[in-house]
Amino acid sequence: MEGVFVSDLILPVRERSKFAERVYVFDTTLRDGEQTPGVCFTLEEKLEIAKKLDDLGVDVIEGGFPANSDEETQAMKRIKDLGLSAKICGLARCVEADVDACIKADVDRVHIFIATSDVHLKYKLKMDEKKAYDQALASAEYVKAHGLECEFSCEDATRTPVERLLKFYRGVEACGSDINNVPDTVGVMEPEAMFSLISMLKGRLKRPISMHCHNDFGLAVANTLAGVKAGASQVHTAINGLGERAGNASLEQTVTALVAMYGVKTGVKLYLLKDASKLVERASMIKLMPNYPIVGENAFAHEAGIHVHGVLAKAECYEPLTPEMVGQKRRIVMGKHTGKHAVANFVKEQYSLDEEQIRAVVDKVRCLTINKKKITEGDVTAIVEGVLGSVAEEEKVVKLDEILIVTGNKITPTASVQLTMNDSKRVAAGVGTGPVDALSRAIQSALGEEIKLLNYKLEAISGGTDSLCTVEVVVEDKEGKTAMGMAVGGDIVMSSVYALMESLNRIYGKRRTKK
Ligand code: KIV
Ligand code: ZN
Repeated sequence: MEGVFVSDLILPVRERSKFAERVYVFDTTLRDGEQTPGVCFTLEEKLEIAKKLDDLGVDVIEGGFPANSDEETQAMKRIKDLGLSAKICGLARCVEADVDACIKADVDRVHIFIATSDVHLKYKLKMDEKKAYDQALASAEYVKAHGLECEFSCEDATRTPVERLLKFYRGVEACGSDINNVPDTVGVMEPEAMFSLISMLKGRLKRPISMHCHNDFGLAVANTLAGVKAGASQVHTAINGLGERAGNASLEQTVTALVAMYGVKTGVKLYLLKDASKLVERASMIKLMPNYPIVGENAFAHEAGIHVHGVLAKAECYEPLTPEMVGQKRRIVMGKHTGKHAVANFVKEQYSLDEEQIRAVVDKVRCLTINKKKITEGDVTAIVEGVLGSVAEEEKVVKLDEILIVTGNKITPTASVQLTMNDSKRVAAGVGTGPVDALSRAIQSALGEEIKLLNYKLEAISGGTDSLCTVEVVVEDKEGKTAMGMAVGGDIVMSSVYALMESLNRIYGKRRTKK
C-alpha cells in the first residue's frame, strides 16, 4: 500500500488470518469514553464529537447510556436528530426501563449487556446464572419487538466459562439479536488467548462478532486485532483510547493498524484522525502523551542527527507510514542528541545560506540545545532570520565586551557595560525601571549620546519556561535616524542586549553610508 512501510514478516500472518471483508467501527468515545474518570462532555461537545465521528466515517456511534438521566436521553436524541450517516446506538442493562430509555432517545441500535462471570453474578448482580440468562433473552426479544437492531454483550466475557458464554450468545441469537459483542471488561486477555476465544465463538455462532477491549495491561489494541484476525467483523474503539480506567482500544491505533498492517478495509478516513483526536483532547481535557502512537505530538518527530539525516534522505528509513496519511506533519526537532553536522546538514537543506551564516546558525542552535530541551523547526527558522538580518562582524562599529546586570525585588535594576567603539574602550553604568531600561541607559552613557528606544517587542516562540524568545527593538538617534535590531535566544535579557547592539550598529552603518 502506498505510503505504508511495514515489515514483510507480516505477510504470512495476513495469509493465515481469517479477516472479514470489511471491519465495522463502533465508536464508544461518547459512552465508555465519557466514563473516563474526570471526563464530562457538554451537550455541544457531544454534538461536535458525534459530527466529527461521522465525518471520520465510523459505522456506529454509541452516544451514551440513556437510562442514566433525562439529560442523557435528550442528548442522544439530539445526536440522532443530526441525521448522520452513522447508526446511533444506546447502551442498556437487560431491563425494560433501560431499553425504553433507548427507544425514547430514538436510537437505531440498542446495546444490551449483562454480566456473566461468576464474580460479577455473585457480588455485583447477586443473581444466579439462570436469572441472568432469562433477563438477557427477554431483553433481546423486547428490543427486536420494537424493530431495533440488537447488540448483546456478556459483560466480563473473558472471565466467563466458555460454555456459559456460548449458551448466552446462542440464546440471544435465537431471540433475533443481531451481533455478539465480546467485552474484555477488565483488560485481562492477551492476543493468543483472544485469537483462540474468538476463533471458537466464530465457529459456533451464527451472528457477527464484535470486540470490546480494555487497556489495563496496555493490550487493548493488540487484543482487538487478534479478535479481528480470528474473524471478528466489528471493533469497539474510543478516540485517544478514552474509557474506564486505562481506557478502551484507541480508534486511531486500531484502524491504522488494520489498514496499514493487514490491508483490512474500514470506512474510516485516516487523514482525519489527527483532527478528531485534537477535538476530543480539547473536550475531554485529557492531554495526550507526546509519544502517543499515530496522533501524538512526537509520532512523526525526529531528533537524533542520524535519524534526521535518514528521514530527510528517505522518510521510510524512520517512518512506518507517511504522516499525511493520518493527518499529521513531520517535525524535525533539534536536541542535545543532534550533532553539529546534523544541524549543519539540516540548515543547508532547508535554507540557502553561505558557509559563514550556516556556522552562525549552527553555533546558536547548539548553544541553545544546552539549555533548552528541544528546538523545533520554527525555532531554527527564527534563528536563521536573525542571522540573515544581522550586521557582518567586520562592519560593526560598536562591539560588546562585557556586561553585568543586577536586578531583584529590593534593588533598583542596574547595568554596567564595557563596549569597544572604533578601537576605544568605553565603560559606563546605568539604572532603570527594569533590566532592559537600565541596560539601554548604560549603553547610551558609554556611547556618549542619547539614543531613544522607540519600540521594544519580546515574544516567546514556543511555550514553556525554557522557550526561545525573539526580541525586536527600534531605536532613534538625535538626527531622527531609526534602525531595527532583532535577536533570538533562550535568555530574554541577553537577547535584548544583542537586539540593541544590532540596532546601534545599523544606526552607525547608516551614518557611515551618508558620509
Ligand atoms: O467493558 C464493558 O464490559 C462494557 C460493557 C458495557 C459492554 O463497557
Ligand atoms: Zn467497556
